[in-house]
Amino acid sequence: MVLFGKCVRDYLVVCRPPQVVLRLQPDGTYFVLLFQLPIKYGPFGKDQIYTKDKMAETPIISLKNIHKSFGSLEVLKGIDLHANAGEVVVLIGSSGSGKSTLLRCANLLEVCQQGDIRFDGDLIVWKGTGDRRKPANAKQIIKLRSKLSMVFQQFNLWSHLSVLDNVTEAPISVLGLDKSQAEEKGRELLAKVGIGEKCDAYPAQLSGGQQQRAAIARALAMEPVAMLFDEPTSALDPELEAEVVKVIKSLANEGRTMIIVTHDMKLARDVADHVIFLHQGLIEEEGTPDEVFGNTKSERLKQFLSATTAQH
Ligand SMILES: Nc1ncnc2c1ncn2[C@@H]1O[C@H](COP(=O)(O)OP(=O)(O)OP(=O)(O)O)[C@@H](O)[C@H]1O
Ligand SMILES: [Mg+2]
Repeated sequence: MVLFGKCVRDYLVVCRPPQVVLRLQPDGTYFVLLFQLPIKYGPFGKDQIYTKDKMAETPIISLKNIHKSFGSLEVLKGIDLHANAGEVVVLIGSSGSGKSTLLRCANLLEVCQQGDIRFDGDLIVWKGTGDRRKPANAKQIIKLRSKLSMVFQQFNLWSHLSVLDNVTEAPISVLGLDKSQAEEKGRELLAKVGIGEKCDAYPAQLSGGQQQRAAIARALAMEPVAMLFDEPTSALDPELEAEVVKVIKSLANEGRTMIIVTHDMKLARDVADHVIFLHQGLIEEEGTPDEVFGNTKSERLKQFLSATTAQH
């Protein structure tokens, strides 16, 4: 059994299977503290654990030379992006620079005309070329869509379903969980994002921040290998934004692999392992938050950051 996680001091917080916290023992093994696994699986030997160093060698999402045009509009002009297990990659850039398009290409909501996508070890296989290019293997699409959850700016909850039903629908229909299992897990996840008391409410009865947290719970219910967030806080008032930021930060601390598009530079600084600045469909600058925000090289990024700071 292999576990992925993020080391936080002597603790390793593992997200697959979810919500396992392991404590490093003096003898170098890890002991299960909080778990959804039977205790018989612990303690784990060092070789079974993906510690930070080993995680750095475990690619989960790998996009190589992605090109995407809409008609004559070339939106992505050759983008490389890699997220290893437990890594948080933050994408920033001005409106129209191609951030959403890149996320949509990553989970095959859009088909890129050129480039390779590797997800959790699987290289997506294509048929056709250019505008006629399509994923060739339906199983790969299903795996990618169900294991690479996406959270959108506008929440996209189903208005005719209760919050709990929104969360349980896909685990029942896609993962094959039975209703009671899915509901138990759904309630846990809604409690985890701080809206446990809203299970029976409908989306229209929730604030924007609560709706976005329900959408995050819905994404988590699929036990994703990785998550994509497209401006998850930009439709929210600052007060409600804080609630969602708190949830995203806790997911980052759990060691989840995430790509986050955001206009919130503070969130970017706080959660990113790697920041990418997109400009007109190309990566203009990338690096650690310290490099990108503390030692900005590109003039365009400097302008973007000063404009963003001025707006907030
Ligand atoms: N389905 C589409 N058909 C045609 N053009 C599109 C489509 N989707 C996006 N575009 C264009 O591609 C460009 C990049 O759009 P995208 O939504 O990726 O930008 P973005 O960086 O996410 O911007 P924002 O910060 O405003 O969300 C824009 O010029 C947009 O008009
Ligand atoms: Mg966008």
